[in-house]
Amino acid sequence: EAARPPGGALQGKRVTISVGGTREALDPVRFLGNRSSGKQGMALAEAALAQGARVTLVLAHAEVAPPRGCEVVRVESALQLRDAVLAALPATDVLVMAAAVADFRPAETVTTKIKKNDDGTDPVLTLVRNPDVLREAVLARDEVLARDGRDGPLVIAGFAAETGDATADPLTHARAKLARKGCDFLVLNVVGSDLVFGEDSNEVTLLGADGSESAPLHGSKRAVADAVITRAADLLSR
Ligand code: CTP
Ligand code: CA
Repeated sequence: EAARPPGGALQGKRVTISVGGTREALDPVRFLGNRSSGKQGMALAEAALAQGARVTLVLAHAEVAPPRGCEVVRVESALQLRDAVLAALPATDVLVMAAAVADFRPAETVTTKIKKNDDGTDPVLTLVRNPDVLREAVLARDEVLARDGRDGPLVIAGFAAETGDATADPLTHARAKLARKGCDFLVLNVVGSDLVFGEDSNEVTLLGADGSESAPLHGSKRAVADAVITRAADLLSR
């Protein structure tokens, strides 16, 4: 194995991490959101900083503050998150998509507050699909790598929380998702009945595009983050 540069495996590298849950506006005071706490993303930021990286957080709504020393780009919706991630991509060596990106947004956002009316007609929400930011980043990768001044790879990782269902077990679902997304590895969180959101620990498996599967990793979000960042650094130095 090549000698690690002093100060950490990611010295001089730029890591972009999307963090938190997007909020999709219905009107000026209401949104559709999700329960992402942002803790795993913040732990990833800490882990990347500890390895010497320069870290950009594309930060949607989170319950915890970003660690000192990150560049923070605040976003609200999935569309804003996409723009920020794609804008950061040319200067990025490692992208980790830890954000809970809303799959759907209201088809219409009105600029005035939705009011009740007394004629007995209540609103019906129509939702439309949001872009798949991870997939778009993977598709943009070739173009980004061809740009002047880049000579290294661009490692892209995603997260997936899966349950088994009637059609397949969590691992099968995750393998299919990894293939669909085309990223380098997927951090699989097998979710049972107990909630993962907001919890301080995690059990994950890293699934590689090369078919590899790590031993199940059990530990704090920081321990998981260290494993994810280490894997990304290894792929970067191949
Ligand atoms: N993701 C994304 N853009 C979206 C949805 C998800 O970039 N519109 C990213 C997430 O940040 C995560 C990965 O894709 O890293 C997997 O998210 P997940 O919700 O599990 O995947 P989906 O493709 O949305 O599939 P599902 O229908 O199972 O929700
Ligand atoms: Ca989803």
